[in-house]
Formats: sequence, C-alpha cells, structure tokens
Amino acid sequence: MNKEKFALAMIVFTMALVFPVSVFAAGAAPGSVSCYNCHKTLGGGLAKPALNWAHSIHQQNGVTCDQCHGGNPRATTMEGAMSKAHGFIGKPAGVAIAGVCNRCHPDMVLEYEKSIMGKAWLGGSGGPSCTKCHGAHNNTIPVLPPAKHNICLQCHKDITWFDQIDPMNVTQNTVEMLSKMQIKKGEQVILGKRPPVIPSIRQDLDPYKIGLIAFGGAGFVFVMGFIIYLLLEKRD
Ligand code: HEC
Ligand code: HEC
Ligand code: HEC
Ligand code: HEC
Ligand code: HEC
Repeated sequence: MNKEKFALAMIVFTMALVFPVSVFAAGAAPGSVSCYNCHKTLGGGLAKPALNWAHSIHQQNGVTCDQCHGGNPRATTMEGAMSKAHGFIGKPAGVAIAGVCNRCHPDMVLEYEKSIMGKAWLGGSGGPSCTKCHGAHNNTIPVLPPAKHNICLQCHKDITWFDQIDPMNVTQNTVEMLSKMQIKKGEQVILGKRPPVIPSIRQDLDPYKIGLIAFGGAGFVFVMGFIIYLLLEKRD
C-alpha cells in the first residue's frame, strides 16, 4: 500500500473517532445551564465561581449553580434566572452557608456544628466556615499538617500534633488529648529524654501510595530472601 495514502487513511480514521467524542464532551459540559453560560463571560469575581465550579466534584456529580443559589437555570435573562420568585438567595453568608451544604451533607454539618471550631464559626468568633476549608466552587479537601503551607496556619500559631486530629470534629476530647501529649513531651524534655514518638498513620498517604509502599516492601523482602537463599546455597 502507498505510504501517504495509508497515513492519510489513519488520520481520517482517528479524526472520525475523536470528533464525535469531542462534540459529545462539549455537549455534556456545563454549557446547558444559563447561570454558567452568562457568568463565565462576565469576568473577574463574577466569572471566577463559574470557572472554578466547571471542573469541581460538584459539577462532575451534576450539582448545578441553582441547587446552591436557587433561581431558574432555564431562563436566559439575568432577571429571569436570578429571580426571587424562583428561590434565588444570592450570595449566602454565615449560617446560610451551612444551610446550603446541609441540603446534601447533613452529617458533616451536624458534626461540624457540634465541634469547637463550628461553634466558633456559627457564634461569629472567628472559626473557619465550610467554604474557608473547602472553597465554595472548587470544593477541595484543604492542605493539612504535616504539609508546610497548610490551612490551619492561617489562624493557629502552634499546630503541634494537628496532624493527629480530625479538623471537622475538634471537641473537648481533642483538646484534652492534645494537652496530654504536650505534657508528656514536656516531661520527657525535663528528664532529658528524646520526645516521644507518637504512633501515627500518615494521613497524607492515599491508598495508591500505601499500595505502592506495600508493593515495594514486599519486593524488597523477596529480593533480600533471594540473596540470602543464594548465600546459603553457596555455603553448602
Ligand atoms: C444573563 C446573565 C446572567 C444570568 C443568566 C445569571 N446571572 Fe448571576 N449575575 C449576573 C450579573 C451581571 C451579576 C452581578 C450584578 C448583580 O448582582 O445584580 C450576577 C450576580 C450573581 C450572584 C452574586 C449576587 C450577590 O449577592 O453578590 C450570584 C450568586 C449569581 N449571580 C448566581 C446566579 C445563578 C445561580 C444563576 C442561574 C440560576 C445566574 N446567576 C444567572 C448575570 C447573570
Ligand atoms: C455547592 C454550592 C454552590 C454551587 C454549586 C455554586 N455556588 Fe456560588 N457560592 C456558594 C457559596 C457558599 C458562596 C458564598 C461565598 C463563599 O463562601 O466563598 C457562593 C458565592 C457565589 C458568588 C459571589 C462571589 C463573590 O465573591 O461575591 C457568585 C457570583 C456565585 N457564587 C455564582 C455561582 C455560579 C454562577 C455557579 C454555577 C456555575 C455557582 N455559584 C455554583 C455556593 C455554591
Ligand atoms: C445538591 C447537593 C449538594 C450540595 C447543596 C452540596 N454538595 Fe457537596 N457534594 C455533593 C455530591 C453529590 C458530592 C460528590 C459525592 C460525595 O463525595 O458525596 C459532593 C462532594 C463534596 C465534597 C468532596 C468530598 C471529597 O471526597 O472530595 C466536598 C468537600 C463538598 N461536597 C462540600 C460541600 C460544601 C462545603 C457545600 C456547601 C457550600 C456543599 N458541598 C453543598 C452534593 C452537594
Ligand atoms: C477546618 C477545616 C474544615 C472545615 C471548617 C470543614 N471541613 Fe469538611 N473536611 C475537612 C477535612 C480535612 C476533610 C477530610 C477528612 C475527613 O473526612 O474528616 C473534610 C471532609 C469533608 C467532606 C467529605 C466527607 C467524605 O467522607 O467524603 C464533606 C462533604 C465536608 N467535609 C463538608 C463540610 C461542610 C458542609 C462543612 C461546614 C459545615 C465543613 N466540611 C467544614 C476540613 C474541614
Ligand atoms: C479561620 C480561622 C481558623 C482556621 C483556618 C482554623 N482554625 Fe482551628 N480554631 C479557630 C478558632 C476561632 C478556634 C476556637 C478557639 C477557642 O474558642 O478557644 C479554633 C480552635 C481549634 C482547636 C481547639 C484547641 C485550640 O488550639 O484552640 C483545634 C485543635 C483546632 N482549632 C484545629 C484546627 C485545625 C486542625 C485546622 C486546620 C485544618 C484549623 N484549626 C484551622 C480558628 C481557625
């Protein structure tokens, strides 16, 4: 077969495969919602929510603008879409944010409301809001200790052992546990001993990394075993 013709045929074939897929992907993109379509064109602080949301876990799970803000995503004018008659609430703030999240994450809201930081937030004394840690539109799990540039440092100076606790569930028990560990460390220092090693499971490892380490560990053991086997064989 002629080389050029073959190459051309391959290109046409590939495009025939890729084109419908890309059209489908574009159709499935958030473009079907008027809120997104208008907001992404507005620029600045009015476009940012839309652009962040477009690749968020909420977008991937079909949670659209109107499910948090209310309004009518089928109307194309601003007045029609952002209409109070359709339950538009605008930009939620304070307790209203918890109310929005509560529609789908009631367990998390309940847990956080009972925690020291949740109370400090809802009571207006400086605790972090849901969106402080998770963002309103990109919805990530925040960067935690022991990572260097973690979110806790925004408000706390001393974050010793903050990698041992659940940030959504800081209670009196947590505070007592932290202070016990502080006292223990103090005693050890006075006795001239090395600070205790607190047993911990590193929380920054995802299952993939754990798998990789386990696999590497198994491989290492296998290789060592084989070397020992070879040495024993030689001795005989
Ligand atoms: C045709 C354009 C257009 C459409 C459609 C539209 N918006 Fe807006 N939106 C705007 C503009 C412009 C502003 C800023 C001016 C204002 O707040 O009145 C705004 C402001 C907002 C704000 C901020 C309000 C505040 O109190 O700060 C939110 C939240 C919002 N829109 C959500 C939505 C949602 C949800 C939808 C769909 C149900 C939607 N928008 C549809 C143009 C649009
Ligand atoms: C999971 C709920 C959720 C979804 C989905 C969501 N928002 Fe928001 N949005 C919020 C919350 C909460 C705030 C309040 C700001 C904050 O806490 O950071 C907000 C704030 C805003 C603001 C005000 C920003 C500012 O800084 O003044 C605009 C505009 C906005 N959202 C538009 C949209 C648009 C457009 C979409 C869809 C493309 C959308 N939102 C999807 C929860 C949501
Ligand atoms: C209309 C329903 C709905 C609302 C309202 C909603 N969420 Fe979600 N959220 C979901 C779904 C569905 C998922 C993806 C599946 C899951 O992890 O449960 C999700 C996932 C998340 C995740 C990701 C968890 C992970 O494993 O990465 C976070 C964080 C989150 N939501 C925070 C919020 C916050 C904060 C609010 C309020 C501002 C909110 N959500 C409002 C439905 C919602
Ligand atoms: C101080 C930071 C912080 C605040 C404030 C916070 N969260 Fe979280 N959240 C986390 C961390 C860290 C995780 C992941 C570890 C875990 O599951 O506890 C998480 C996990 C989640 C998840 C995913 C749960 C899962 O198992 O998939 C959701 C949903 C969520 N939070 C919603 C909320 C809501 C709603 C609020 C407000 C009522 C809130 N968070 C306040 C830090 C925070
Ligand atoms: C927006 C500021 C803010 C952020 C961000 C923040 N906290 Fe807090 N935290 C507070 C406030 C306010 C209190 C309540 C202080 C009080 O009432 O004694 C508190 C209390 C605590 C306490 C109780 C003991 C103490 O030291 O006061 C712990 C533990 C704690 N936070 C852990 C965390 C962790 C872990 C993170 C990061 C994932 C974090 N915090 C992020 C504001 C914040």
